[in-house]
Amino acid sequence: MKTRIVLGRTLLHAALFSLVLFSGAGRSQAAPPQAASDPNAPHLQKNGNVTQMILDGKPFLILGGEVHNSSSSNAEYMRPIWPKLAQAHLNTVLTPVTWQQIEPEEGHFDFSVLDTLIHDARAANLRLVLLWMGSWKNGNSTYTPSWVQGDSKRFALVQNKDGRSLQILSTFCEANRDADARAFAALMRHVRDLDSAQHTVIMIQLENEVGVLGDSRDRSPAANDAFAMPVPKTFMEYLAKHKDGLLPEFRAIWEATGFKTSGTWEDVFGRGPADEIFMAWNYARYVDRVAEAGKAAYSIPMYINTWLVQPEDKGPGDYPSGGAVAQMHDVWQAGAPHVDILSPDIHLPDTPGILASYSRNGNPVFIPESSAGVSGSANAFYAFGQFGAIGYSPFGIEDQADPESPLSKAYAVLSEMAPLILQHQAAGTIAGAWLTKGRPSQDVVLGDYTLHFALRRGFRSAVLPDSGYALVLATGPNEYTVSGSDIQVTFSPNTPGPPVVGLGKVEEGTFQEGHWVPGRWLNGDETQLRYDLSPAAAENQSGTGMRFAGNGPTIQRVQLYRYP
Ligand code: DGJ
Repeated sequence: MKTRIVLGRTLLHAALFSLVLFSGAGRSQAAPPQAASDPNAPHLQKNGNVTQMILDGKPFLILGGEVHNSSSSNAEYMRPIWPKLAQAHLNTVLTPVTWQQIEPEEGHFDFSVLDTLIHDARAANLRLVLLWMGSWKNGNSTYTPSWVQGDSKRFALVQNKDGRSLQILSTFCEANRDADARAFAALMRHVRDLDSAQHTVIMIQLENEVGVLGDSRDRSPAANDAFAMPVPKTFMEYLAKHKDGLLPEFRAIWEATGFKTSGTWEDVFGRGPADEIFMAWNYARYVDRVAEAGKAAYSIPMYINTWLVQPEDKGPGDYPSGGAVAQMHDVWQAGAPHVDILSPDIHLPDTPGILASYSRNGNPVFIPESSAGVSGSANAFYAFGQFGAIGYSPFGIEDQADPESPLSKAYAVLSEMAPLILQHQAAGTIAGAWLTKGRPSQDVVLGDYTLHFALRRGFRSAVLPDSGYALVLATGPNEYTVSGSDIQVTFSPNTPGPPVVGLGKVEEGTFQEGHWVPGRWLNGDETQLRYDLSPAAAENQSGTGMRFAGNGPTIQRVQLYRYP
């Protein structure tokens, strides 16, 4: 399969620095995201067509990794891990903070472990994204304090079709929501007091992969009452106002009932789809209330992560019903204006498709969980290059933090290039390529040329690598800077004139403090892709191209010229 991606031909080098800056992350917000009360606090800012994380006044690219669920419950356990992660070129670590641990007795908070984590991360020059394991973790409520777990009369649970209670706090219980919001607000106040001068903590994940598992909806008495009521007016008004911009999956559901504007959930959305939409709305409202309470204490960016629909799933409940899967984005955007980003946890192979579906309607791209290794490196390059991502973070990072690992090599290059990547994201002069044997080539239109990416072929060999990836910046007239691994690229012009593109000069090199430091001049075997020159000429090809070996990304800069 050949994939063709077209970027607007607005390549003007000068445009790099003439950026339109305004706050906000797109139409995802029913209300504009809260401006940071302190302009120096971490915040999101729309720069050109992308939303970026602004830290200490400058855009920041999150080269992250998430530790295993239990690692950060003990500061001693984490102590040797911080320097390993810094050596692996991470700049940010995603660490759980659990309700169970910070509020062991109602109203009595213990932040001692968190304080040490923040101190030790700072000492290793790492930033933190805190994962608030409050009411839910992967649907379940296993991180709640014992005074919540033991009192299901006060803190109501979800019930399934058989009338059995599940170990999941119900969204239809105000006591659940208010207790979570109080604990989260206390956490955010504490982070503000401890960290608002240094900004080690840059973002918050709200809960973890929420939704009902084991049934398509909550069937507790309170949930059943709510399900029989009319769909809330605020939701109906949002849908009416955004009708033309609704995402196709959601619009199709609503269209099937003739875009009904009032009635019960089943009247408006139909039997079946109604269950998941009802849960998504109620999770969104609950999480939004928690986020609002936290932001009132300390306003930094907040996102939710999503357990995606798996190929074997038959319906909601097999995956958490009510989470922000693609067909529920409109519901979440309507119900949770204090949530800045809807994130996918990418543990499925179709990274390009998942990123495409999570970058719609102004949703900024942040990937809190995915793979490391070569495939993870490819995901990171593609997310930053093609989708203006804010950050990337493999799960279980402490197992993958060897400085010689593929991800460390990829992060080393990304950190060298980060200032440039951020500038080019804002200017729209960047693209990415993500190739596998099932997707062995991809065309990218960027500036005055189309770049034809293909999996790297060995010289006189047809053996292909399993995957290849690249990130390309249009760095000047007839000039591109490309970083990639196991990939090759040829060029065709998009403007009138001579049809064949030659490689004038190809340098490999590095970036030091943002400046290009050239190494070898590449030519001969390093750029000759084929010797059948007449068939190549018939295809308007010179026979040369840029070639990137495997074993981690390298950076090359090319000057192009054209001939008839
Ligand atoms: C997804 C969850 O969000 C993580 O906390 C963790 O449990 C991983 N799955 C395990 O693969």
